[in-house]
Amino acid sequence: MSKLYDMIIFGASGFTGKYVVKEALKFLSPNSPLTSIALAGRSSSKLAETLKWASTSQPTALPILVADTSDPSSLRRMASQAKLVLNCVGPYRLHGEPVVAACVEAGCDYLDISGEPEFMERMEADYHEKAVETGSLVVSACGFDSVPAELGLLFNSRQWFSPAVPNRVQAYVSLESDKGMALNFATYESAVLGVANADNLTKLRQSSRKRTQPLIPGYGPDPKGPTIEHQKKIGLWAVKLPTADTSVVRRTLSMLTDNPSGLQGASENPKYAEIRTAFWSNIKPAHFGVKIAAKNRLGILRFIAVGLSIGLLGRFSMGRWLLLNFPSIFSLGLFRKNGPSNEDIDRASFKMWFLGQGFSDASHVSKQPDTEIITRVMGPEVGYVTTPVILVQCALIVLAQRGDLPKGGVFPPGIVFGPTDLQERLQENDLSFDVISKSYVSSKL
Ligand SMILES: NC(=O)c1ccc[n+]([C@@H]2O[C@H](COP(=O)([O-])OP(=O)(O)OC[C@H]3O[C@@H](n4cnc5c(N)ncnc54)[C@H](OP(=O)(O)O)[C@@H]3O)[C@@H](O)[C@H]2O)c1
Repeated sequence: MSKLYDMIIFGASGFTGKYVVKEALKFLSPNSPLTSIALAGRSSSKLAETLKWASTSQPTALPILVADTSDPSSLRRMASQAKLVLNCVGPYRLHGEPVVAACVEAGCDYLDISGEPEFMERMEADYHEKAVETGSLVVSACGFDSVPAELGLLFNSRQWFSPAVPNRVQAYVSLESDKGMALNFATYESAVLGVANADNLTKLRQSSRKRTQPLIPGYGPDPKGPTIEHQKKIGLWAVKLPTADTSVVRRTLSMLTDNPSGLQGASENPKYAEIRTAFWSNIKPAHFGVKIAAKNRLGILRFIAVGLSIGLLGRFSMGRWLLLNFPSIFSLGLFRKNGPSNEDIDRASFKMWFLGQGFSDASHVSKQPDTEIITRVMGPEVGYVTTPVILVQCALIVLAQRGDLPKGGVFPPGIVFGPTDLQERLQENDLSFDVISKSYVSSKL
């Protein structure tokens, strides 16, 4: 069925949405896969302002559609007009499901930038089968959450040449700025609501017939490790981070270890089915975890204090009221009601290190790994530069290479975009993927 627009950006008036519009406009051209964009949201005047803000270098006229997550018919109308919807309306726990439902119903493709595990796992449990039927491709976490983790792990895995195999990969995320980095309120609200509803995620995982833990042989992460770790190899202090990355990567690894033949058959095009098969056969699943890292102990104590205040107060309604009304105080300036300034954004960046440990010979696996491969993904500010770049590149792949992607279904980004040229596209847009060191050690690492 022919669609009026290649892509609709829903929630375009939001803090992140407006940067997504600005990024997408760079690729709008009659000779490209992106020939038409419409903006959608609940306020046409705010959307018009967004367009003015985003198209300063060259005034652009784009269609504006009114749609509200509390009005399913407006969402159906939106989804019926687009090949692809980019959903920037969050928190997704509150607003995401009706948008996914409308896209799946209309057979329209859907990408978002959610970092909320319960929302993502619930969408997979409730909409995967229907999405396969209608041919709608639904992929959440196409932002800083969780593409650097997904592609970074795959990149590390590809550095292990047979007979070597990785056993565990620990990621360390370091958010850097010479001024003090900050994120907008909606991301903080999503985290607070995630804590408030933590039980729902546990119940969902218990009720799901699918396994959420990948079947990976070997010893896994050391459960007795210190709470605060000084990781001398990368010169950082670190503490475990309860992030969406772990949940998203686990879903990818579970699909990989459960159903490799399903992945091979994911594409209709025989040439690309072959490319996918070759890609996945080079990936060796490993136990995966994420830690937040800082240059000194004080930086780590700040993250621990913010984590504890959200983790403890987020469980009670009075505590949530305090957290949500005084974000700057309870997050020690990490989250702000009005988001970061342009200067804050320009001066921020990230590094994500992947310390892979494993064995030089898969047929001689012992208790202690004897090989270590360190890789790194780095790039500009996470929320409003890196996230729009990733989302728009994922969108361009969906538009340009649709026949080479799964026909329909709800998938994590690694499954859909891992075997594509997403890494190369991100490298052309200021992200880098580097091998830092490969070492063979005989003693305990
Ligand atoms: N993956 C990542 O790394 C990453 C990075 C950045 C952001 N995010 C996520 O992206 C989401 C948005 O964040 P943000 O900071 O951009 O939030 P925001 O500034 O509050 O923007 C929210 C957007 O949703 C719209 N909206 C709210 N309620 C709606 C409804 N009922 N119907 C239709 N539209 C509605 C708002 O419209 P109005 O303008 O009319 O209010 C606005 O456009 C959050 O969930 C955040 O966590 C993720």
